[in-house]
Amino acid sequence: MHQKSLIILKPDAYQRKLVGEIINRIERKGLKLVAMKLMRITEELAKQHYAPHKDKDFFAGLISYIKSGPVLVLVVEGAQAIPVMRKLVGATCGYEAEPGTIRGDYSISLRYNLIHASDSEESSAREIDIFFRPEEIIDEPMFISPWVDQG
Ligand code: CMP
Repeated sequence: MHQKSLIILKPDAYQRKLVGEIINRIERKGLKLVAMKLMRITEELAKQHYAPHKDKDFFAGLISYIKSGPVLVLVVEGAQAIPVMRKLVGATCGYEAEPGTIRGDYSISLRYNLIHASDSEESSAREIDIFFRPEEIIDEPMFISPWVDQG
């Protein structure tokens, strides 16, 4: 099933210059980049994006972390893009994530875990809508697709 996933390369990824490395992994896997925005997340956007966590004890810290520097927000598309991205990203906590995953290779923190990836189709639709207008999502056929995501 073809899906879109909303990805945020968080302030630690930007400051640690891991943006290129992470995008490289996403592209090499076979996912397509269909939207991208380098930006600072405002308090309002942060609260909207992380609304499902609003009652958690780490909410305030999470909001100040995501606002603490520039982020790269992306939409990636491809076969099973949501579960595929969750696997590439690894477990939430950097010190528990498996080596070979993005967090497993580059994070040793629970909060500073470098990257966000949508956890379901419902979240993906909600999150994409927060950061992008429909006309900002590229709809361009890729001629290598038959070699990448057949079947
Ligand atoms: P993310 O996948 O963006 O979803 C929620 C974020 O909250 C998570 O990545 C971490 O950055 C952060 N987070 C999750 N659990 C905790 C926790 N127990 N303490 C602090 N931060 C957390």
